[in-house]
Amino acid sequence: MREKSTLLFTSQFEKDVYEGLTQFPKQLSSKYFYDSKGDALFQEIMEMPTYYLTNCEYDILETFKNEICNYFKSDFNGFDLIELGAGDGKKTKILLEHLVNLNTSFTYLPIDISENALEQLKTSLYNELPDVTVNPMQGTYFESIESLCRTHQRKKVILFLGSNIGNLLHPQAIEFLLGIQNLMNKEDLFFIGFDQKKHPQTILEAYNDREGITEKFNKNLLTRINRELDGDFNPDKFIHWEVYDPESGTAKSYLVSKEKQEVRINHLGMNISFGAWETIHTEISQKYNPETVRWLCKKAGLEIVDEFGDTKKMYKNYLLKKNLK
Ligand code: AVJ
Repeated sequence: MREKSTLLFTSQFEKDVYEGLTQFPKQLSSKYFYDSKGDALFQEIMEMPTYYLTNCEYDILETFKNEICNYFKSDFNGFDLIELGAGDGKKTKILLEHLVNLNTSFTYLPIDISENALEQLKTSLYNELPDVTVNPMQGTYFESIESLCRTHQRKKVILFLGSNIGNLLHPQAIEFLLGIQNLMNKEDLFFIGFDQKKHPQTILEAYNDREGITEKFNKNLLTRINRELDGDFNPDKFIHWEVYDPESGTAKSYLVSKEKQEVRINHLGMNISFGAWETIHTEISQKYNPETVRWLCKKAGLEIVDEFGDTKKMYKNYLLKKNLK
């Protein structure tokens, strides 16, 4: 096999695909799901009744919006509401609308990798909530938020909804939370969603719908490689497979090769061989219990100010601040 020198990679995507498909077991990062086709498929997922996460968080925000927004508001200079991975902002709009009704002074700063998602969000807010000042930022979480901290001095409230943290294994989650904590001042708040452990069947069904939308979402990684790196993956030669370990609380997604096959990726200048039933691990969606969340926060120097759950105890949002002790 011809080794491709790091210097020859033309993008991070190319490099990550190369590394992920030449190691054993094979893996690809879930962050590459979200091109414009993946964004649209994820919106479809959020509409599915089996993908309970969206509705749970929606209910929590609707029920507790007054309490939550009262924590957010600042009596002095107003505040900056920074959202990491804003997407279509559907749930955030509950809070934005309520903040407007409370006559709060704030700027909404959604951060997303997807320029396309931000454009749509900006247009929809302009139409639905014209009183909200929006300042979208395209980029990765930390680069964007760091540059924001340099230019914005007043109170910050950081939103990280949808249990997006669940894509990270615990050590990476701690590193991520620590990174945020480091950027916070003592009056700043961090509002974050953690999907909770529940009946394993409910979790499996959320990631394994009969209509095959999650399957398409997962296989979009292959079509993205075909399109952007000139590959010839046949998605029909793979199955989408989901497992959930109720002990660790980790749901894992795989693409499994149905047969022995060779796939050509022209931009990498190489063929990738798959054995029959060989796997590509594509995503983890971690589920939590209250003890685990407390442990993660403690490790990251964050203190739980308050928490909000749905009636079925499926999902929780936590309000955190920097632990100064
Ligand atoms: C956006 C990462 C929270 O893991 O539940 C949905 C993505 N993957 N269905 C999740 C996803 C498959 C989702 N997050």
